[in-house]
Amino acid sequence: MRETATDREPTVQELFDLSGKVALITGGTGHLGSAMARALAEAGATVVLTSRSTDKAVAAAATLPRSKGIPHVGIALDHMKTDQLGDAFARALDHAGRIDVLIDNGHEAEPADWSTITPEQFTGQLANASGYFTLARLVRDHAVSRQAPASVVFLGSMYGLVASYPDAYEGICPASSVAYHALKGGIVQMTRHLAAYWAADRVRVNCLSPGPFPSEHAPDGLVERLCTKLPMKRMGQPYELKGAVVFLASDASGFMTGQNLVIDGGWTAW
Ligand SMILES: NC(=O)c1ccc[n+]([C@@H]2O[C@H](COP(=O)([O-])OP(=O)(O)OC[C@H]3O[C@@H](n4cnc5c(N)ncnc54)[C@H](OP(=O)(O)O)[C@@H]3O)[C@@H](O)[C@H]2O)c1
Repeated sequence: MRETATDREPTVQELFDLSGKVALITGGTGHLGSAMARALAEAGATVVLTSRSTDKAVAAAATLPRSKGIPHVGIALDHMKTDQLGDAFARALDHAGRIDVLIDNGHEAEPADWSTITPEQFTGQLANASGYFTLARLVRDHAVSRQAPASVVFLGSMYGLVASYPDAYEGICPASSVAYHALKGGIVQMTRHLAAYWAADRVRVNCLSPGPFPSEHAPDGLVERLCTKLPMKRMGQPYELKGAVVFLASDASGFMTGQNLVIDGGWTAW
């Protein structure tokens, strides 16, 4: 995102530094979103943290460490209400002045698996992709109007790349949702498509695909089963996405677009 080529090589600290940048992260109150929001703030960004609830967003934004005393911003945003995303984005701009980085992370879940899901539930789950896209295009259009670069990061999943193991869920809970697999696989592919179209605008688009990072709400017994399914034999901790999200948001990944960065303890390696 560096505006001009410098006559000296940037240091690694400069490459990862987000000072002076504004990063919008959706679902910033969630299990992974809260750690990624902290990462962006710790790297120096001003963070626009969104939740479907204004109160939750404002409260979460207030907990983030500040760079040079600049306050972070919490706003309401529901990416399933695509007709309202323009207004939400305008509110973000009113508060923060501009957006340089988008982390499209929020996710409205659909728990029904292949055996019970209805067509309406399936379509509803896919609507998360429409929300990711609509917000990303607002960021792209905004960057073009400012003649500034931008970095867009979509949250994918290992389940956008591989099937789940039927025996991981059997007897514990429904399998991972078939519509979630369709959604996340589509997001990985949407990343490539938009990256190709927006590179000329200096808008990079990448996907960050976590492996298993279950929260404390995971059903009893599931974590133990999942731990047998990956080389590292343990689950990811939310902080283990912090480096990756700052890498993708910052100049450290300045020559990277259209890619899917997988952080999964080796789940997809075998
Ligand atoms: N945890 C994992 O193991 C894992 C693995 C692979 C991929 N992922 C992906 O990582 C991302 C974050 O997952 P997570 O585990 O942190 O989930 P999470 O704890 O459920 O957080 C997701 C957040 O998304 C927000 N959200 C829900 N509906 C929304 C909507 N319509 N518009 C905007 N935001 C909405 C919610 O925040 P509010 O209620 O405050 O609005 C929620 O806290 C998701 O995209 C998920 O698919 C997670």
